[in-house]
Amino acid sequence: MPQAHRPTIIVGNWKMHKTIAEAKAFIKGLSPQVGNCSANVWLAVPFTAIQASAEEAHGTSIAIGAQNAHDQDEGPFTGEISCRMIKEAGATFVLLGHSERRHGFQESSAWVNKKVLRALQDGLRPIVCIGETLSQHQAGVAHEILDVQLTQSLNNLSDQDLKKVIIAYEPVWAIGTNQTATPQHAQEIHHFCRELIARHWNVAAADKMPILYGGSVKPDNAAALLDQPDIDGLLVGGCSLSLDSFTQIIHCQTSKSLNL
Ligand code: PGA
Repeated sequence: MPQAHRPTIIVGNWKMHKTIAEAKAFIKGLSPQVGNCSANVWLAVPFTAIQASAEEAHGTSIAIGAQNAHDQDEGPFTGEISCRMIKEAGATFVLLGHSERRHGFQESSAWVNKKVLRALQDGLRPIVCIGETLSQHQAGVAHEILDVQLTQSLNNLSDQDLKKVIIAYEPVWAIGTNQTATPQHAQEIHHFCRELIARHWNVAAADKMPILYGGSVKPDNAAALLDQPDIDGLLVGGCSLSLDSFTQIIHCQTSKSLNL
């Protein structure tokens, strides 16, 4: 499937790292690096740093987003935060259904679906994370798991909604483990996900949807992953915390960015 019409998006997921001051210093250092970068560079920062990060990134092409949000607009949900709140603070996108939320905080795909619908309603682009665990991977049921996660998380979305959705395939066994999926394996799964979208929704939506890979992305494996035809970008955890490694990743020269 041709991919030239899909943007390349490289997202840093800072997880529970960086204070406001650290976030601002990082973005100040990153800003001069993004001007000549062929990829779109996005940062999913802690809630507390959204506003300061958005202000620091103002005038650059760096987009700032959140790592989670609630499905309700407001209410008695102690410790939670709404899409409207993060949008007002300066977020333009939100990660939803990250495996650390699915497994650490028991977020089901049905709940992720409600969050996706709310994010779209409030004008945020959702990055919907899916991925199989190590035992599911070893049992050979990754396809079935991804089919269920994808169809349930994107249930009831209109064709218009689908145009704003980004998928991130993150095999749980590869997150923070140094065990990156091989580019060939990641490509096979991304292609499978694209076929699922074509089958459950339509071919046009599948063709346009950016599908990112995440899980132990590093400067030395980023280019090979991005060179795969169905890998449209990267979701980078650990290596997005250091300016040096993240800069290397956003500048990795691929045949895609060179238009070969
Ligand atoms: P990692 O994390 O790059 O540290 O494996 C990726 C993620 O959890 O989004």
